[in-house]
Amino acid sequence: MLIVSCSHGRHIGSLAAKKLNCRYSELHINKFPDDELYIRFNFLIKNHTIVLVQSFYKNISDCIIEVILAARTAHELGARKVVLIAPYFPYLRQDKRFHKGEAISLNIIARLMDKYFDAVYIMDPHLHRKSKLEQIFKIKAKKLTANALIAEYIKRHIKNPVIIGPDEESYKWARSVAEILKVESRILRKKRYSSYHVKVKLNKKINLKYKNVVIVDDIVSTGHTILETAKILKKLGAKKLYCICVHGIFANGALNKLKKARISVISTNTIPNKMAKIDVSSVIATELKNS
Ligand code: R5P
Repeated sequence: MLIVSCSHGRHIGSLAAKKLNCRYSELHINKFPDDELYIRFNFLIKNHTIVLVQSFYKNISDCIIEVILAARTAHELGARKVVLIAPYFPYLRQDKRFHKGEAISLNIIARLMDKYFDAVYIMDPHLHRKSKLEQIFKIKAKKLTANALIAEYIKRHIKNPVIIGPDEESYKWARSVAEILKVESRILRKKRYSSYHVKVKLNKKINLKYKNVVIVDDIVSTGHTILETAKILKKLGAKKLYCICVHGIFANGALNKLKKARISVISTNTIPNKMAKIDVSSVIATELKNS
């Protein structure tokens, strides 16, 4: 097996390869003056299983083209199998035609992956209307999760935690982390009006006086879900507020807003950022070892 990092996979690919003690390389990537991508493997790949690592954030379209060029080339050059590891996978929201004329982007991206890869592994995908990756991809597709690592982090660093999920869908992370830790949890309700306008509601009261309250969610993007949740938790007497997420997108000054609201933010390293204190490479390495 040969682990090959694409442009946005280096921060995790190298760590996973070290853990597995397997061969590691970085895809050579360049851009022509007109913005076209150029990729090249600088090593022999014939008869190897090639594991491409790419986290699809920021220049998502380039990230997609890179892996397609690389996967197809690896097959042409005789790779035994080509596998994609995606610490963060994009387009999961657009899984239906909400308005007339829209693209169902997720299906189109999934068909591309089906065509060029033999298997895909995704860290904590936020699935909306489809509950399993198998309903989205035709190739082998498996969900990996950072929940156990998040629970471990809380156990080591936060005393007497109460876990809060900020919306209905967050139970997959918040509830699961609370169950591992065997601590109290509550899932809130959220209504989103626009990217920056959300309202969060608590259905059943909970006493948070003197408690260390940890909001656990998969994604923090604008931070407004967490900010609205924090307002409620403060009113309920929370002593200290933490937010732990898997994918720290932190768009448009989100981290500053959270800091101002005196929320301690921690994320995993699926998307590199300065709050990434939980390394998910062990989950990827274990999966590759067992697959
Ligand atoms: C969506 O349901 C996700 O789990 C997050 O709650 C959401 O992406 C957070 O977005 P924002 O930080 O922009 O409120």
